[in-house]
Amino acid sequence: MENLRPKKPSESAVTTRYLVMPGQANPYGTAFGGAIVAWIDMVAAMAGQRHAGKEVVTASIDSIIFKEPIHIGDQVLLKATVNYVGRTSMEVGVQVCREDPIAGEKVVATTAHLTMVALGEDKKPVPVAPIVPESDEEKRRFDNARIRVKARKELRSKIQQP
Ligand SMILES: CC(C)(COP(=O)(O)OP(=O)(O)OC[C@H]1O[C@@H](n2cnc3c(N)ncnc32)[C@H](O)[C@@H]1OP(=O)(O)O)[C@@H](O)C(=O)NCCC(=O)NCCS
Repeated sequence: MENLRPKKPSESAVTTRYLVMPGQANPYGTAFGGAIVAWIDMVAAMAGQRHAGKEVVTASIDSIIFKEPIHIGDQVLLKATVNYVGRTSMEVGVQVCREDPIAGEKVVATTAHLTMVALGEDKKPVPVAPIVPESDEEKRRFDNARIRVKARKELRSKIQQP
C-alpha cells in the first residue's frame, strides 16, 4: 500500500491568468461560457494532479455559477483549490475573477465545483492523500465540501440508472 502523505490545500492550489480574446467571445462581446468552462476544467485538473500526484479525470462538473459577465480584453484570474478528498476523488473549487487592467477593477465572475478522480496506471481509480485544511477559510471550504460530497453521493444512489 502506497504511503499517502497528507497535504495542505496550499500545496496543490493553482493560480493562472488568461487574456480574453475575440475568438473566445459571443456576439455580445462577453466571454463564451464554454471557454470559461474549459479554463475551469483545466485549472481544476492541474490542482487535482498536484494533490494526487497521479493522472486525474473529471468525474463531474457539479456546479457552475456565472455571476458576472467577462468582457473581451479583460484579464481572467483563475484559482483552483482542492477543498475535500474522499477515497479516490477530490472536490476542487474554482474561483474566476475578471480584471480590467485599465480601470483596475477586479470582481468574482464565476465560481465552480468539480469532482476529479485519480487514476492508476491501469486507469482505475486509486486512493489519494488526505487533505489537511489549515486556515479558517480552508476549514470552511472543507466543511462545506464534505456536505456537498455527501449530498451528491446520496442523490446518485437514489436516482435510478437506465
Ligand atoms: C470518473 C470515473 C473514473 C469513475 O469511475 P467508477 O468506475 O465510477 O469508479 P468508482 O465507482 O470507484 O468511483 C470513484 C470515485 O469517483 C466518484 N464518482 C464516481 N462517479 C461520480 C460522479 N458522477 N460524480 C461525482 N463523483 C463520482 C465516486 O464517488 C468515487 O469517489 P471516492 O472514491 O472518493 O468515494 C469514470 O466514470 C470515468 O472514467 N469517467 C470518464 C472521465 C472522463 O473522461 N472525463 C472527461 C475528460 S478528463
